[in-house]
This record gives sequence, structure tokens and C-alpha cells, in this order.
Amino acid sequence: MPRHRIFSGIQPTGEPHLGNYLGAIRQWVEQQEAPDRADALYAIVDYHALTIEIEPEQLAAWTLDMTASLLACGLDPQKVTLFRQSDVPEHAELGWIFSCVAALGDLQRMTQFKDKAEQNKDNINVGLFTYPVLQAADILLYKATQVPVGEDQVQHLELSREVARRFNRRFGETFPEPQPLLSKVARLRGLDGSAKMSKSKGNTVALGEAPETIRAKLKVAVTDPARLRRNDPGHPEVCNIFTLHGCFTGPRDPERLAAIERDCRSAALGCVDCKKELADRVVEQLTPIREAQAAWRARPDDLRDLLEVGRKKAAAIAEATMEEVRARIGVRGLAKRR
Ligand code: AMP
Ligand code: TRP
Repeated sequence: MPRHRIFSGIQPTGEPHLGNYLGAIRQWVEQQEAPDRADALYAIVDYHALTIEIEPEQLAAWTLDMTASLLACGLDPQKVTLFRQSDVPEHAELGWIFSCVAALGDLQRMTQFKDKAEQNKDNINVGLFTYPVLQAADILLYKATQVPVGEDQVQHLELSREVARRFNRRFGETFPEPQPLLSKVARLRGLDGSAKMSKSKGNTVALGEAPETIRAKLKVAVTDPARLRRNDPGHPEVCNIFTLHGCFTGPRDPERLAAIERDCRSAALGCVDCKKELADRVVEQLTPIREAQAAWRARPDDLRDLLEVGRKKAAAIAEATMEEVRARIGVRGLAKRR
């Protein structure tokens, strides 16, 4: 087994946005280029998406579309395993076993459940509550040690570690304790400048957004709330636009980033111009992704073939883990069936 194994997942609930990209996907792509790269698996978690009301055709279509988006972001299926969660039924099997291991009290503390239950009062299904248990199964099925995610998933990973410990204590040492890998922007705020960027909040820039839309959205995005007049000095450390400059301007032109920071503080640079400049950078850097996304969307059969290649690689690991788990817990495994 490799020293480290990476696993992460993303729900097929629409186009990924800048929060998904900067918090998670960009790390996935960067790590695949590392010389000492770990073995990595990325799942499009369609069973998790079932916790929200979603039409069957829509779920299938979004799963394929997420595949197109991830490939467009640069994920390379030659270097990583990219697959659809529901193609490997062992996720659901281990999810049930873990639900007999996880503590109710631990699940009741999950803030994402509380938020989602509050937002969807007419559909508080049990899956929404046991969601982190299935997530623990996703990760531990591959005995993954590192999980690149945004900050909102840190609590779920604490639960995954607790599930691993509880299982190991009861049935013998089987699973490692997975750790989160957080990016520099582990919690990107939305265009409103306050809430987390999130599809459900309508404050996103999607990766495939048209240039005019990106420009229009950034034009009205919230900056430093204390900067009321053009000549007021700005505070880049609290400004979401400056955070985005850090991602889109900084890596290419650190001197320009330093100048933006200085000129914002002295009020030499106003928010309108600062946002216009950011929009140029974002449009420039998202254009290749948008174009690649369109190209992949035109090849649905190739997307299905790639998912099938991923399924085979994932299934081989998942089946081995489940044989071990079945033997440990005392249910009959396939190998022993008579
Ligand atoms: P989801 O769309 O909820 O499946 O999220 C996919 C990944 O994006 C997870 O790793 C999240 O933690 C991450 N993510 C989602 N929103 C944000 C955000 N606003 N900032 C940083 N990471 C995020
Ligand atoms: N819960 C994650 C989210 O909402 C998605 C997810 C499901 C996941 N299973 C996972 C992330 C396993 C990391 C590892 O973003």
C-alpha cells in the first residue's frame, strides 16, 4: 500500500463555483503534478446528492457534467482515479456498517446538518442526518489518509476519524485516521462578501460562467464594508475582492498584488477599478476551463468511458477492503460463500 492515499468527493448538484475550485479542486489538480504524488481517488458523490430533492434525469446529467468540469479543471484520469460513487456499491454497504458504529450524539453535533435542516424544512430526510456516515465510508473504503476539502468539511472529517477509531476498537485495527488537507482559501466568501460562497446562497461565480456575466457579477460584489467613500482608506485583509486577487493576481504577478494592497490602503486605488482588474484576471483564467468544459460536454460517450475506467480501479480497492471488513464483523464474505 502507498504511504499516503488521497480521497475526496464532490456532489453533482450543478456547476462547480470558485469556492469549490479554490477550496478543493485546484488542490486536487496541483497534487497530481507533485513528483512524490500519492495515490489519489476522486468521486462524484451522487448518493450524497440524493439528500436533496433532485430529478433522476437531472442527477444523471449533472454527474456527467461534473465529470466534464473536473476534467476541464485539469484533473488527469491517467494520474488519478475519477469515478462515480454509485458505480461502487460498497460505499452504501460500508455506510450501513458504519451507521452501526457511529454515535448518534456525534451526528447530532454536525453543524452542516443543522444548517441544511433549517434551509430545507420540508425535506429533512434521514440521509441528510447520516450524510457524514456515508462520507466516512467513502474515505475509509480506500483507507485514505488525506482528504483535500474546504473548511466546511473539517467537522465531517473529525467524525470520520471517530468512526475509524470506534470500528478499530470494536473489530480490530482496520482503518487509518484520515486528515483534512486545507488550501490557502479554505473558506471563500460569496459575492455578498459575508456568507460562504455556496450554490444554495446564490452568491457564486460558476467556473463556466460567460465573461459578461462574470464582469457583471464582480461589478456589484461587496468589498470592504468600512470603505464608504472613494477616498476612504481600504482594508485589504477584510476584503473578499482582495482575497480573490490573492488567487488570481498573486501567483502570476506578486508585485502587482503588493501594489494593489498598498494602493487600496492609501485609497489611490478605488474599489470600482480594483474589481474591474480582478474581472479581467478571472475571465482570462477561467476562459480555458470554460472552453475545455464545452469540449468535454460534446463528448458524453468519452465521459462515460472514462468513468468506467475509474470504476474498475476504485472497485478493485473497495472490494478488497470489504472482504476484510466482512470477515472482521462476522458476516459472510464472497470468498467464503458456499
Ligand atoms: P460540495 O459542492 O458541497 O460537494 O463541495 C465540494 C468541495 O468544495 C468540498 O471540499 C467543499 O469543502 C468545497 N467548498 C465548497 N464551498 C466552498 C467555499 N465557499 N470555500 C472553500 N471551499 C468550498
Ligand atoms: N460532503 C462533501 C461536501 O459536501 C462531499 C463528500 C462526500 C466528500 N464524500 C466525501 C468530501 C469524501 C471528501 C471526502 O462537499
